[in-house]
Amino acid sequence: MREIRAFILDLDGVVTDTAEYHFKAWKRLAEEEEVPFSRADNEQLRGVSRRRSLELLLGEYIERYSEEEILALMARKNDYYQSMLTQITENDFLPGARQLLDDLKARGMKVAIGSASKNTRTVLTQLGILDFFDGISDGYTVERAKPKPDVFVYAAGAVGVPVVNCAIVEDAESGVEAALIGGMIAVGIGPKSRVGKAHFRYESTANIDLDEIIKGSVNL
Ligand code: G6P
Ligand code: MG
Repeated sequence: MREIRAFILDLDGVVTDTAEYHFKAWKRLAEEEEVPFSRADNEQLRGVSRRRSLELLLGEYIERYSEEEILALMARKNDYYQSMLTQITENDFLPGARQLLDDLKARGMKVAIGSASKNTRTVLTQLGILDFFDGISDGYTVERAKPKPDVFVYAAGAVGVPVVNCAIVEDAESGVEAALIGGMIAVGIGPKSRVGKAHFRYESTANIDLDEIIKGSVNL
């Protein structure tokens, strides 16, 4: 018997689509460094920390760089990314995301963000929803990245709800894994090949069925 009392939402790919900006910023860096990087390669960076993303992007080329240079590359990518974030407005919610937030509040749920991004607060500010959440857990909050459950455990603590009573909404495989390891209810957004291990799965945020999740969780 499980009662959901809080929803913890991933940001990129669930609430808004910053993946395109991440791609453009990584692509620019890759071109400058003359490292091949495609849109398909970018899919592997979904939900992955900035450092791990760079490691995946560089692959074997990483041996060319010192630790100092790697930090400089991460900073450069982030500069490119941040300059694009200024374009985000209140119109940049993924379909259904704004409605989902209101529906959750109307049902009396605690609502938190659990994102690996250190730019979480900037993105929420651009979307005009920084003050909406009962808790925010981001890339500054915990040390260990998803699939470790730390970012969600912190969010659960921030809203004062036990992890077993939290549902996580995630578009990344690593995020679904983190939710499951953390003993939470996992709601996957995207194809089965990516988030098929989640308790509930929907093609997009707009397709989320809160009744199904809330009622279905009772038996988990
Ligand atoms: C999210 C995104 C990733 C990104 C990570 C770190 O998880 O899905 O693509 O690499 O956050 O973001 P940051 O803004 O800190 O570089
Ligand atoms: Mg995501």
